[in-house]
Amino acid sequence: MTISPTRRLLPLLPTTRHGSRSHLTCLYRCGNACDQPVPNTTDHPTFHEVAEKALARRSLLKIGAGAGALTVTGLATGGTLAAAAVAGNTAGTWRFTPVLPNNADKVTIPQGFRADVVISWGDRVEKGAPEFDVDNQTPEAAARQFGYNNDYVGVLPHPSKQRRGVLVTNHEYTDEQLMFPTGRYDSATIKQIAMASHGMSVVELKRGDKAGSWRQAKVKTTELNRRLHVGSDFQLVGPAAGDERLRTAADETGLSVKGTLNNCAGGLTPWGTVLSGEENFNGYFDNRPATLDADLAASYDRYGISGRGRGWSEVDPRFDLSQEPHEPFRHGWIVELDPYDPTSTPRKHTMLGRMKHEGANVTVADNRKVVVYMGDDERFDYIYRFVTAGTFDASGTRRARRRNLRLLLTGTLSVARFTGDGDEDDRYDGSGVWIPLTSDTESFVPGMSVAQVLIDTRLAADQVSPTKMDRPEDIEVNPVNGRVYCALTNNANRDTPEETDEANPLSSSQTRPALGAPLVTQTGNRNGYVLEMVPGNDNHAGRDFNWNLMLVCGDPAAPETYFAGYPKEQVSPISCPDNVAFDPEGNLWISTDGNVLGSNDGLFRVPVAGARRGKVEQFATMPVGAEACGPFITPDGKSVFVAPQHPGETNGATFENQSSTWPNREGFPRPSVVVIYER
Ligand code: FEO
Ligand code: CA
Ligand code: CA
Repeated sequence: MTISPTRRLLPLLPTTRHGSRSHLTCLYRCGNACDQPVPNTTDHPTFHEVAEKALARRSLLKIGAGAGALTVTGLATGGTLAAAAVAGNTAGTWRFTPVLPNNADKVTIPQGFRADVVISWGDRVEKGAPEFDVDNQTPEAAARQFGYNNDYVGVLPHPSKQRRGVLVTNHEYTDEQLMFPTGRYDSATIKQIAMASHGMSVVELKRGDKAGSWRQAKVKTTELNRRLHVGSDFQLVGPAAGDERLRTAADETGLSVKGTLNNCAGGLTPWGTVLSGEENFNGYFDNRPATLDADLAASYDRYGISGRGRGWSEVDPRFDLSQEPHEPFRHGWIVELDPYDPTSTPRKHTMLGRMKHEGANVTVADNRKVVVYMGDDERFDYIYRFVTAGTFDASGTRRARRRNLRLLLTGTLSVARFTGDGDEDDRYDGSGVWIPLTSDTESFVPGMSVAQVLIDTRLAADQVSPTKMDRPEDIEVNPVNGRVYCALTNNANRDTPEETDEANPLSSSQTRPALGAPLVTQTGNRNGYVLEMVPGNDNHAGRDFNWNLMLVCGDPAAPETYFAGYPKEQVSPISCPDNVAFDPEGNLWISTDGNVLGSNDGLFRVPVAGARRGKVEQFATMPVGAEACGPFITPDGKSVFVAPQHPGETNGATFENQSSTWPNREGFPRPSVVVIYER
């Protein structure tokens, strides 16, 4: 029941192994991670021990926190996105005929709704930015325009204007083939523009005339608009800041970093900041030396730092590992951005550990400690949780906000172990524990210091036998029922049943039955799961939890699929869940990335309670080649934001030979943020 440390999976069937993913996505986003050795070569066992605990049915949490709680947070400002009394339908009560799977090059939504593009790649963000001109791009312009490949979407209240909101997005990576007319730009300029097109954007929005509609506010009227990119200043903070391994030739203090890389998902804090996950940061560094110090090599290997980067060392030597071996340690963190202070320096929080952070989502526990849930998006990697040492101050004063801004500096980082209770109950479920790795003052991993645990978090976690998960993506607390929902997007690399456990039950050579049906699939977990976690005694800061796989995604006709027991003939097919969000009624919204069922990716609504629990309904499909990023639902339930990322990213596509032209303005695709609302 162990995984051989020497196991290597050959890319025998590249088109299948990459799912519907284009080779461009694999190359640019995650450095062909599927073709690299699995970085986690530990051989700690999977967990089949039977536990007696039944899934505890918990009462509603009294504390609303996270995205839905903006009206009760410590913002020292008067703005709110929530109406005092919500009239009419909301995203949770919208009745719609589910969208059918399709391959249309547009955002397809149900009848009765409207989808507007709010902002696109290249649109002006900062004052002084030029209008976008695809033939005359410059690094200076890109650094002030909306970046490429929008991923995370958050919308906060405007501090002073009732009809405004503040949009914060991540720009995860770039697709050079689709962005630049062939032969128009030299290699160095392309790289500099790509670097300026990564990062984050802060953009003031204005409500439209129709309830739920939003548009970009005129740039000249804004005060908060801001672009962050690979040349922007970031601070390293927390216990590992200043560590020897965080120091470079350009920064002998180990406290100051240029730029943020591969920002994927994120979350809002109750004090009105945004957390952003640096995910596949490993794919940006060139020229790994053939021989390395053993510790450095072990760390590089565990994070997949192969030295096959994006060629950025051509324009910036810090991306050359042979010259600057420490630069990778300055990435892979959770970034905290204060969108209300355009002069603030965003911080990289070492206390939250270093990994391929999908994102980070925050809740407030009963004891007022702040809890951050995080997934490390890699095959066979782990789910983490951070609990602050201090408590959240909800008084809403400026002093309280200053205090809250220090909360993520001290606390305890833990990793999850899941134990199944056996398949006889026709449920994939069981109990779990959070295993502490380190506090800000004391490491709980033998032989590793606090800073070592935080910088080599994966290596530290390997020592305490957490459960190897199938690519943990977004993990977020439902503000209505207090349960935690995690998208486990897929993993076709569990080869045998011996490599499975009840939380990761499908393997590529499946022989054991899945939930009462004889299993005939040979596909393994290609379509992903949605994991539901129930904190013990509703206490997010506690040690224990219960869990179940609420969804085993895929074609409902496939025997392995499971939709919380809801009749399978009545649900929409869903594949590769990636991001999650909640409407005011507590329904789960899921966006997908990499659908392997033949349709474009999409956005789905799923009730988590009552008779309709598990009824997956497709609300939108994305344009050709795009995944559905975001999503974000405003607290008033009137607006669903979604960010189609990498439209047109299909095999063989070039600027002159595009497979998508969405949003259909210029003949080439532009990643954009969209708002969907009732007509
Ligand atoms: Fe950037 Fe894990 O998706
Ligand atoms: Ca079970
Ligand atoms: Ca994602």
